[in-house]
Amino acid sequence: MKTTALKLIVVASFVAFGLSVQADDGFFGGGDKYNGEARGKPVIPVQVNATWQQECAACHTAFAPGLLPAASWTQLMNGLDKHFGVDASLSPSQASEISSFLVKNASNRWSAKTAPLRITESAWFKAKHNEREVGATVWRRPAIKGPWNCGACHPGADKGDFNEHSIRIPK
Ligand code: HEC
Ligand code: HEC
Repeated sequence: MKTTALKLIVVASFVAFGLSVQADDGFFGGGDKYNGEARGKPVIPVQVNATWQQECAACHTAFAPGLLPAASWTQLMNGLDKHFGVDASLSPSQASEISSFLVKNASNRWSAKTAPLRITESAWFKAKHNEREVGATVWRRPAIKGPWNCGACHPGADKGDFNEHSIRIPK
């Protein structure tokens, strides 16, 4: 009796997990999607901040603000001197201008309490780039470098365009 009930719970939670990974936009509505780690809609505002566009695109794609929640951006902007092993410091006025832009336009669908510093560690990112879509060895191709290099496969990444129809995976 007990074990049957337990089995049912296990099966039910697997089904629920499967559905929550599968279901993207609209199916279950906002909160539960990707365990609350969902990117914003839109991912980038029509009017972007020029300082952000210039300074945050110096080493990689200027990552669209809606890819992370506000708490992630605040943490990231407070640690620019130790930015993933490099010094990406800015003047206090530039930093606060960029910070406001990122926080104001952060993901509006992120309900989890999590605040990853990497987009590539978020649940929505992992679900969209699972093993089936991008195999482990693909990430390491010289033309791709790593998952953080969005523009390698999404030509419009700088403009926040991640449309699945424009994806080109370099060989
Ligand atoms: C001096 C070079 C440099 C500048 C300028 C720079 N970054 Fe970075 N950034 C890096 C490096 C290096 C990484 C780590 C890449 C890797 O994983 O190898 C990184 C990673 C990131 C990541 C995590 C990407 C992931 O893996 O999901 C975010 C978010 C990020 N940067 C935001 C910013 C923002 C916002 C700015 C502007 C304020 C900025 N960066 C400016 C060098 C830079
Ligand atoms: C190796 C190539 C590659 C890299 C690098 C890459 N992606 Fe993707 N991306 C894909 C593929 C493949 C899909 C799956 C498209 C599908 O669902 O049919 C995808 C899907 C997406 C989607 C969902 C698109 C949609 O319409 O559902 C978003 C958003 C996205 N990627 C953002 C990013 C961001 C942000 C980065 C960098 C931090 C990144 N990607 C790096 C290949 C890549």
